[in-house]
Amino acid sequence: MKIRDIDLGNKPVLLAPMEDVTDLAFRLLCKEFGASMVYSEFVSADALIRSVNRSLQKIVVQDAERPVAVQIYGRDVDSMVEAAKIIENESKPDVIDINFGCPVKKVAGKGAGAGMLRNVPLMLDITRAVVKAVNTPVTVKTRLGWDHESKIIVDLAEQLQDCGIAAITIHGRTRSQMYTGEADWSYIGSVRANPRMHIPIIGNGDIDSPEKAAEAFERYGVDAVMVGRASFGRPWIFKEIREYLDQGRVTTDMTTEWKMNVLRRQVHDSVECSLSRTDNPRKATELGGIMHVRRHLANSPLFKGIHDFRKTRIKILRAESMEELFQLLKEAETIINKFGTPIADEISPEDPKSLKIN
Ligand SMILES: Cc1cc2nc3c(=O)[nH]c(=O)nc-3n(C[C@H](O)[C@H](O)[C@H](O)COP(=O)(O)O)c2cc1C
Repeated sequence: MKIRDIDLGNKPVLLAPMEDVTDLAFRLLCKEFGASMVYSEFVSADALIRSVNRSLQKIVVQDAERPVAVQIYGRDVDSMVEAAKIIENESKPDVIDINFGCPVKKVAGKGAGAGMLRNVPLMLDITRAVVKAVNTPVTVKTRLGWDHESKIIVDLAEQLQDCGIAAITIHGRTRSQMYTGEADWSYIGSVRANPRMHIPIIGNGDIDSPEKAAEAFERYGVDAVMVGRASFGRPWIFKEIREYLDQGRVTTDMTTEWKMNVLRRQVHDSVECSLSRTDNPRKATELGGIMHVRRHLANSPLFKGIHDFRKTRIKILRAESMEELFQLLKEAETIINKFGTPIADEISPEDPKSLKIN
């Protein structure tokens, strides 16, 4: 499958953009485990134009993670165009993705993100203008519609395609659903089945196993799938899905010890990434490096279902140093070795209480 001339291979599996989750260190790790393309956290166009440090940090990409998409959101044509140009010049990403899907109040309530589903003319104006302003391929990520009564995606996808986008990602929920209920893939399938659609369709929503990824390709005909929450504390999910899609078998060579070492590596890499920050050297701290990774560890399916793990999980979320996290991982490993590994498939990949959700 290709996005313009970027070849993502057969049945690509993409890492979803997730705020406070898909930072550089995590993207590199997912890439190593087989993610076909990775996305940055979303960046506010207005904040980027004002050179807010945190936004500048979010658009830093490395060659090792390519192909990589940097995602922007905003509600105004001029600022979206300006932000896209800044990203094209500064980050030189392979793709610039526009977020028309974020449902949270502070974004959608102000008309940006999924808020655009209530102002399609402006959504199309922004898309057209951004496509025209940059040479980088522009893609869009959105939802089925604003609510149950307005699932407009089949028409909308065509209109967005006419604006010149190079691919579209569809999360199979409405804005009103936020993250509740199940993603409805039938609409994603209808977009793909529309003979007028010629750009790649990336399906997103609730893919948390190799079997579900395979079903998305087979049943709904999508060109790629995108994995979000199921990657929390489980970057190896890309390896699991890749092997299943390519070789038709479920990976058996990933032991608990191996997974624990991946998590240790994630901690280490996150701290390294933080310490090498150049945008704001004052913030280049070890604590900065473990902020996001603590939540990954606390939500790893490796630890779910472990008897009485709650206290350790809280300690993980409150840890203030790498050393402390390594110690807690050691404790967790001892518990697993003593009582056995819980079965990851029986466990929800997300603990809404400990995650801020977009
Ligand atoms: C913590 C969190 C942060 C997110 N941040 C973004 C974001 O910055 N941009 C975006 O387009 N979607 C964002 N999303 C939505 C995901 O990209 C994805 O569409 C959604 O989680 C559904 O996919 P999943 O079921 O595989 O998780 C976020 C989701 C979560 C849980």
